[in-house]
Order: sequence, then structure tokens, then C-alpha cells
Amino acid sequence: MSGKKFSLQNGETGESLELPVRSGTVGPDVVDIRSLYGEQGVFTYDPGFASTASCESKITFIDGGKGVLMYRGYPIEQLAQRSSFIEVAFLLLYGELPNAEELEAFEQSIRTHTMINETMLRLFNGFHHDAHPMAMVAGVVGSMSAFYHDTTDIQDQRHRDIFAHRIIAKIPTIAAAAYKHAVGQPFTYPRNELNYAANLLHMFFAVPAEDYEVDPVAAEAIDLLFTLHADHEQNCSTSTVRLAGSSGANPYSAIAAGIAALWGPAHGGANEAVLTMLQEIGSVDQIEKYVAKAKDRDDPFRLMGFGHRVYKNFDPRATIIREACHRVLAKLGRTDTPLFDLALRLEEIALKDEYFIEKKLYPNVDFYSGIIYRALGLPTSMFTVMFAIARTVGWVSHWREMIIDPEGRIGRPRQLYSGPVQRDYVPISQR
Ligand code: SDX
Repeated sequence: MSGKKFSLQNGETGESLELPVRSGTVGPDVVDIRSLYGEQGVFTYDPGFASTASCESKITFIDGGKGVLMYRGYPIEQLAQRSSFIEVAFLLLYGELPNAEELEAFEQSIRTHTMINETMLRLFNGFHHDAHPMAMVAGVVGSMSAFYHDTTDIQDQRHRDIFAHRIIAKIPTIAAAAYKHAVGQPFTYPRNELNYAANLLHMFFAVPAEDYEVDPVAAEAIDLLFTLHADHEQNCSTSTVRLAGSSGANPYSAIAAGIAALWGPAHGGANEAVLTMLQEIGSVDQIEKYVAKAKDRDDPFRLMGFGHRVYKNFDPRATIIREACHRVLAKLGRTDTPLFDLALRLEEIALKDEYFIEKKLYPNVDFYSGIIYRALGLPTSMFTVMFAIARTVGWVSHWREMIIDPEGRIGRPRQLYSGPVQRDYVPISQR
């Protein structure tokens, strides 16, 4: 406790109340309101939790005003430039950068747990060919709680470690199986000699009819995108994983709940929606029309990939991905980049518009990521699946932190009730 106090006065009773204030290492203080309802008989009200800290965490820090994002204190710009996704996964899970021996052991553990139970593979035959890959991935990840229910004692650190390595290792294999089912091709087994990103590309695009060589440019681009998407504090899907996990539910089902939450177009589903939007806009001369639609309160259309609950400045991830777009498209020899050119012009026009300036709406992580995924040959329906693969590391890290949190309790918010007050049942003959 910081010793600081926050004074409130109960307007009804005139009683003043002092609440303890807690400080973190960086960022806003929090007012500890746990005693409020017991002492004053009132709840706080914060739909969307914009002013509410749901927990204490040591994993990721965001300063939305300054466009700062740090994983365990390391700025995302440095990690994007100098680290790798598998090293970032270790950092997020265990709190420190690994030494060479730790990294080797961690990577080896992930590489050798990428296969999934053959029975799990058969689940894909239950999906129609046009099932959305996110629906398939959420379903099959949820089924892991059936395969691993008896060997998951969440009170046992060893079991928690096994769960973490297992889900991080297998989620790419499940994602690739969903993709192969969607395109009607045979499933490609993982290869232990390939690194995380290269293995995923091989499982996506290799076919039995010929050898497949992974393009290192593509693998490097995916590794960077996964690093940028790995974690993001208490976002919607991470909070969903924490809430589901707080009941003591099987952790695989908590991750499946996070996948479901991520799918929404207001969250991770935005990367798919951005490409659909860019294709709908079609050309630069249509941009003004769509920016006008985004500003029209009577029009439900929003500029997908723009705006953020926390960032009121540039999302640092969007800046890094925009630069990567230039580099990757050039390295892939893609000169015909009409959608990327359109996205750049859309950003330029929107950021000069009073509406976007006044509401502090900037491009977020989803605005440019799909441009790269598309250039790598992935269909838009797989874009949010890519987000889910990377964010699994963040979900697992937060689940682990929540499970051992001494202040942790089952999540159970209250409400402001505005429904009917008590009334007596009326027999149907009198209605
Ligand atoms: C992710 O939380 C995270 O960290 C998420 C994420 C992560 O890594 O986990 O960063 C990933 O989800 C990024 C966001 C992807 N979603 C989109 O790109 C969808 C488009 N964006 C919006 O729907 C919206 O900006 C949200 C959902 C991202 C944020 O919504 P908020 O914080 O609830 O803000 P709001 O809806 O209250 O908007 C504030 C105002 C509103 O206008 P007024 O009612 O005040 O007049 O800004 C307007 C909104 O209409 N607005 C937009 C807009 N986003 C907000 N207007 C047009 N286009 C937009 N994109």
C-alpha cells in the first residue's frame, strides 16, 4: 500500500470515506474499492471497464497516451528488432529473458510437442468445408480439455508448465489443420527441425505432391507479427481467459473462451474486417465517401483497424507493422500492392480529418497486419487465427499469473438493476 488515500463522500448519508490508494511501478495508481459495498452499500459503475483495474499484473505495460508497450519492462520496439517470438514467449511466461541454455531447452520443448492426438484430427471432419477457421480452432482447442482433463491439476506447478508448453506448441498445428480442412487439402504434420514460424508455414502450404521450401522472408515476417501480437495487458480476450480461469475451469477451455472473445470484429476479428473494408473501398477516390460514413453517427460503419480503448496515440505495433509491410512486400517482390497503397492513403486522409484527430483515433495493430498475411498467401478468414496463435502466449501467461495470485478470487461483477420491482404472478387466465 502507498499510504495515499482517496476521499469520497456518500451523497446520501453525508458520510465521508477514505479509500486506500495503491501504486504500481509505473502507470496510474488504483483506488482499492473492495470495502466500498460492505461499508457504504453502493457499487461502482464502469461498463467496458475503462476506468477499472481488474487485477495486479507484472506482465505487460501500456501507456496509451505516449504509445508505449512493454513486455516485462522491455519496449516492444527493442523486442521486435532484436528478439524472436519463442524468446518473447519465454519472457512473457517466466518474467526474464532466457540465457542461451534456457532458450534452447524451451524451444526444444515446444518443437517436440507440436503433434496433436490423432483423434483430435478427426474432429475436423465434423466441420463443413466452409466452416470459419476461428470456429474450428475454438472448438478443437476446447476439446483439448477432454483429452487432457485428467492430467491437468492446476494447483500443481508442473501441470501448469506442461499445459503452457502443450498449448503453445499445438495451437499452430490446430490452426494449420483448420486451414487444410478449409482448402480441402490433406493435413501436413509438423516438422521438429523447423522453428515455430517456419513450421507453421510448412504445415499451411506443403502438399504431399511435392517438396516445399519455407521462404525465410515469410517466416521472419510471421515471427515479427507474432512477437507484436503476443500480449497486450487486460484486453477483452485476456480478461475473458482470466475470468473463465478464475472459476478453476480446465485451462484449455479458458483458452478456448479467449479465442471466442478474440474473434469479434471490435477485437482481433478487426484484421479480417480491415481487408474486407479495403476491398469494399476499392480505390483511393472512394476513401472520402467511407471516411464520411465512419464519421456519421447514424451509420454503423466504422473504419476498421482504427481506434483503440487504450491508445490515444499511435499504436506502436501499427507503426512497426507498417514499416514491415514495405520491407516484406519488397522482399517478396510484390510491386503490385494496391491494397497497401490504399491503406497508406486512408491513414493519411483519416489522420488529417478533425473527427479522427479530436477522438484520437489512430491505426491499431489490426490495420496493416492483414496486408502481410495476404501477401504470404493466407485467406482473410485465417487472419484472426494468426492473431490467436500469437496471443495464446499472453493468455497462458496471464492465466498462470491469475492462478497463483494471492488476491485472486472468482470473478463475479455486480450490476445496476433497472428491471421491474417485485410483483406477483398473474395466472394466464387473467393476462
Ligand atoms: C484490438 O484492448 C486491446 O488491447 C485490444 C488489442 C489487443 O492487442 O488485444 O489492441 C487488439 O482489439 C485492436 C482494436 C481492433 N478493433 C478495431 O479496429 C475495430 C474499430 N475500432 C473500434 O470499434 C473502437 O475504436 C474500439 C473497439 C477499438 C475501441 O472502442 P471504445 O474504446 O469502446 O471506443 P468507443 O467505441 O467508445 O469510441 C469512442 C468514439 C465513439 O464516438 P462517440 O460515440 O464518442 O461520438 O470514437 C468513435 C466512436 O463512434 N470511434 C470510431 C472508431 N472507433 C471509435 N469512429 C469511426 N471509426 C472507428 N474505428
